Amino acid sequence: MKILILGSGGREHTFAYKIAQSSKCDKLFIAPGNAGTKQIGENVAIDPNDFTKIKKFVLQENIEMLVVGPEDPLVNGITDFFKQDNEISHLKIVGPSKRGALLEGSKERAKEFMGLYNIPTAAYESFTPESLEAGKKFLETLDAPYVLKADGLAAGKGVLILNDLTEAKDELENMLKNQKFGQASAKVVIEEFLKGIELSVFVLTDGSDYKILPTAKDYKRIGEGDTGLNTGGMGAISPVPFADDVFMQKIENRIVKPTIEGLKKEEIDYKGFVFIGLIKVGEDPYVIEYNVRMGDPETEVVLPRIQSDLVELLSKTAEGKLAEATLTIDPRTATTVMAVSGGYPEAYEKGKEIKGLDTVGDALVFHAGTTINEEGKVITNGGRVIATTAFGENYKEALKVSYQNIEKLHFDKMYFRKDLGFDLA
Ligand code: AMP
Ligand code: GLY
Repeated sequence: MKILILGSGGREHTFAYKIAQSSKCDKLFIAPGNAGTKQIGENVAIDPNDFTKIKKFVLQENIEMLVVGPEDPLVNGITDFFKQDNEISHLKIVGPSKRGALLEGSKERAKEFMGLYNIPTAAYESFTPESLEAGKKFLETLDAPYVLKADGLAAGKGVLILNDLTEAKDELENMLKNQKFGQASAKVVIEEFLKGIELSVFVLTDGSDYKILPTAKDYKRIGEGDTGLNTGGMGAISPVPFADDVFMQKIENRIVKPTIEGLKKEEIDYKGFVFIGLIKVGEDPYVIEYNVRMGDPETEVVLPRIQSDLVELLSKTAEGKLAEATLTIDPRTATTVMAVSGGYPEAYEKGKEIKGLDTVGDALVFHAGTTINEEGKVITNGGRVIATTAFGENYKEALKVSYQNIEKLHFDKMYFRKDLGFDLA
C-alpha cells in the first residue's frame, strides 16, 4: 500500500517510523516532513492545507491511505473534501470529518457535547463581544484562578489561567474586543478551575468501535517544576503510573464510551484518533479538552509501545472495521525528552547544525523541527527540534536512557528540561 502522512513534526516522524515497519507499506510519502522523515520515506513539498495539491499528488502516485497528523487540515475539512469528490472518494483517510474535528476546533462545541452526554468536565459559560459585561459578572461569581479559553484554534496558546480578578476581566476584554487570539477569541469559554494532575488518553475509533491506546503524560511548560510559558510539549511518559486499572475503568465508562456513543448518535463520520486531555481530581477523571489527532510529543511514546501492525490498525479504522484489528501493547515504559531552540516558545533562531546524531545508540531519535541544508547537514528548523525516546522497566529507568542520549546531541542554544517525571515520585 502507498501511504501519505501529512505534517512535519515529531508526531509525523514517529508515524513514519511505525508505518515503515509494516510489511503492508510499499511506499511512504510525508508532506512536508522533516530531516528525520526523509530517512524513512520521501518528503514532498506540499502544505497539509493545500487540498487541491494533495489530491493531485494522491492521484498521480496512486496513494491508498492518507494519515492526517495535525489538526488544522481536519478542522478545515480535508476528510469531507476527499469523501465528496468522486475521483478520490476511494482514498482511506485516518482523520475525522469536519463535524468531528469541531470537538477540537471549538471549545464551546466540545463543552456542549460533554454536557449532552454527561461527560464529566469543568462547569462553564461562553461569551461573545456582545455579552462581555455578563462575562465580567460571571467571573465575579467564580473563585480564583480564572480559566479563559479562546473558542477556536489558537496554536495551543488560547488558554489563560489568571489569579487576579481584575486581570481576568481585562484579558476577557482583550480576547473578545481586541481579538487577542484573532477570530479564535471572538468567543470565549470561561471555566471552573480544576485542581489535580493531568494525563492524556488516546482512543482510536472508526466511529463505532474503539480501542484505547496507551496513556501518556506530557510536560507542557518550558521551565522545570512546571513553570514558565506553555509549549507544545517538552517531553512525555507512557504509561502514566497513577492510571491504574480502577482509574482506567472510570475513564472508559464515564468518558470514552459516552464520547463514542455521542459521535454515533449524532451520525458523525469519525475515523481517527480522539486525544482526551484529562485531569484527575481526587479519584475522578474530568475532561479538559478533546483533540482530534494524536498529541506531540505523546505520539513519540505511545506509538513505539504499540506492537501490532500500525498500518493494519489504521486501515481497519479508515474502513470502519476496527473490530477486526488487534492491539498489542509493550508493557514497558517509554519516555521522550524534547530538545528545543533557546528562546522557545518565544522568539528563537533556526539553521543551527545538529551534531552527534550518529552517536545515539539505545534510544530512538525523532525529529520535530529539522531540515537538511544545501551541504546535506541536519539543521534546526523550529522551536521544538528533536526528541529521544527510550524504553525501561519503569519511567525512571526509561528517562535515564532518554537523557543519556539527548546529551549526545548538540546545537547552539539547545535546551531541554531535566526534571521530567518530577511530579510522579
Ligand atoms: P487546553 O488548551 O484546553 O488543553 O488547556 C491548556 C492547559 O490549561 C491544560 O493543559 C491545563 O493545564 C490547563 N487547564 C485548562 N482547563 C483547565 C481547568 N478547567 N482547570 C485547570 N486547568 C486547566
Ligand atoms: N502535547 C500536546 C498536544 O499535542 O496538543
